[in-house]
Parts: sequence; C-alpha cells; structure tokens
Amino acid sequence: MRLGIIGLGMVGREVLLYMFQFSASQEIVVYDVNKERTQAEIWDLEDSIPLGHFNHYSHMRVADEYSDIKDCDYVFVNASIPAKNLTDRRALLAENEKLMKEIGEAVAKYSPNAIVIITSNPVDAMAYYFIKYSGMSPQRVIGSGDVLDTVRLRRYISSHFGVSALNVTSFVLGEHGNSSFIPWSIAQIAGVHVDTFSQMKGLPLIDKLKAKEFVRKRGLDIYNLRGFTDRGIGASVYTIFSAIAQNEQRIMPISALLQGQYGIDDLVIGALSVVGSNGIEKILEYPLTDDEIKLYHTSAEFIREAMK
Ligand code: LAC
Repeated sequence: MRLGIIGLGMVGREVLLYMFQFSASQEIVVYDVNKERTQAEIWDLEDSIPLGHFNHYSHMRVADEYSDIKDCDYVFVNASIPAKNLTDRRALLAENEKLMKEIGEAVAKYSPNAIVIITSNPVDAMAYYFIKYSGMSPQRVIGSGDVLDTVRLRRYISSHFGVSALNVTSFVLGEHGNSSFIPWSIAQIAGVHVDTFSQMKGLPLIDKLKAKEFVRKRGLDIYNLRGFTDRGIGASVYTIFSAIAQNEQRIMPISALLQGQYGIDDLVIGALSVVGSNGIEKILEYPLTDDEIKLYHTSAEFIREAMK
C-alpha cells in the first residue's frame, strides 16, 4: 500500500506520524513546498524507531513534484494557507480553493484510483472543490467534516453525565464550522435519549445551547491560543482511514456530497455516512425533526454563501 501526503503543516505532520506508526503501508510519499523541512521531518521520524522493537514501519520519502504522488492508494490533503486569529474557517476559502485546484488536478493525473481524505479548511468547501477540479468520484473524496466536532461533543456530554464517552452516541452535523448543529433528536447514551438519561441519573438536562457553543468554540480557541490544532484532527483522519482500510462500514459524520438528501443538492456538508473500503459506501438520511432540517439548510447556506 502506498500513501501520499500533500501539505506537511501541523496537521500533515500528525497525519504522517499516525500513518508512519500504524498504517502498515510500504511507502509514504510526502509533498510540501518546503522540501528541506519535509526531509528533516522524515529523518526525525525515522529516528523515533526504537532499536530492534519496531515490527514494521513505512518507508518515507520526499516528493519533489506532484508527479511523485504516483499510484497512491490513499492521498491525504492538508495543504492550507496559514491563518491568524481565526474566527471563521471560511476566511481561508479563496486561497485554499486555488490549492485544491492545483492538487485536485495533480491527484487525478497521478493517483486517479486513490481514496482522498481532506482536512484543508473550510473542509466542506475544499472537498467540493477537490471533487470539481479532480473529476474523481465523490464516493472516494472524503472531508474530515464533523468527525472531530462529534468527538468534542461526546466528551462534553460524557463529562456532564459522568459516563464514558464510549457510551455516548450523538453527532454534530452540517458545516465543520460556526453553523454546525447538534441533532438532539438522535442523541443517545447507552440506548436512551440524553434527556431520558438525565431523569434516570437524576441529573439536570444538558444545556443544549452551551453544548453547541462548546463545540463551535473549541477548535477556534485551540487554534488561536496555540496557533494550530493537530492532535484532534490527526486522530480523526486516522479514524476515517481505519474505517476504510479495515472496511469497518462505520457510520461517521464526514463531509459528503449531498445530491438531494435532506433537501440539499450539489453541496458537500457534514452528513452521517457509512465509511468502508469503497470510501463513502452510503450517505444515510436520518428522520430528523423539521427544526433540525431547517438547521441543516441554514448550515448549507453558510457554506454556499462563502463559495459564491
Ligand atoms: C479543528 C480544525 C481541524 O476544528 O478545523 O480543530
């Protein structure tokens, strides 16, 4: 298996670390405009191999040109312009669209059969542009979407109720950004609705506005206090990769091209989808409430407005 990584900023470095340690790939080819730093990152990662105890590691090398990202089974796209004082990921759109055109055309030419996982923000729009410029199947172009937001929400809910996040089945949907929303009608803990669980445990109902604000602010707060986020999104990318590589048929809120689902057409947005060896196996249309559908449409408009 050969992997390609395009963009070795903080997110790309985290993706490289996960793939180097866990992907069991034969080769990882890494493209970034800064070749010397990319080579140094690879050397440093090679030096992390404990002597004699590492039963497998991927060979890594620097891609001099996009043409070196050739015949890859997976391509991870993390390229982005730097961002300062981010209050809305849509601010990155105009410049990052240019990158998606350049990268999309290159990946279509050199790794046309790859499954592509995109984190470049604003990720829903970037995945749409990648599909548009590459012409590759929307089934095989996956944005990280609300996977990370959902992790953040589940941790928030688990700390409110004092239960493991593994027992929390709730999701964030819509834009990976300020207009994302939480479909509380399908939010459960160990098989019961969160509000029912409150009564069962004798705890106050979860403050849904606070939960939404927590999710909305989390990524931006980390970004602005630290200059970037990488750990959470890196783990999310690895979770998506594993669902594909292991054919897990896992239901995840990735960025998927809707073509009529929820009354939304020709737009990439965070939507619950079955993820497996073919990439997006199926986009699921949940029986959301009328108010939740309205929130979906509002979020879709947020994305469309920025793409005009
Ligand atoms: C975040 C970035 C990946 O939310 O948008 O951490």
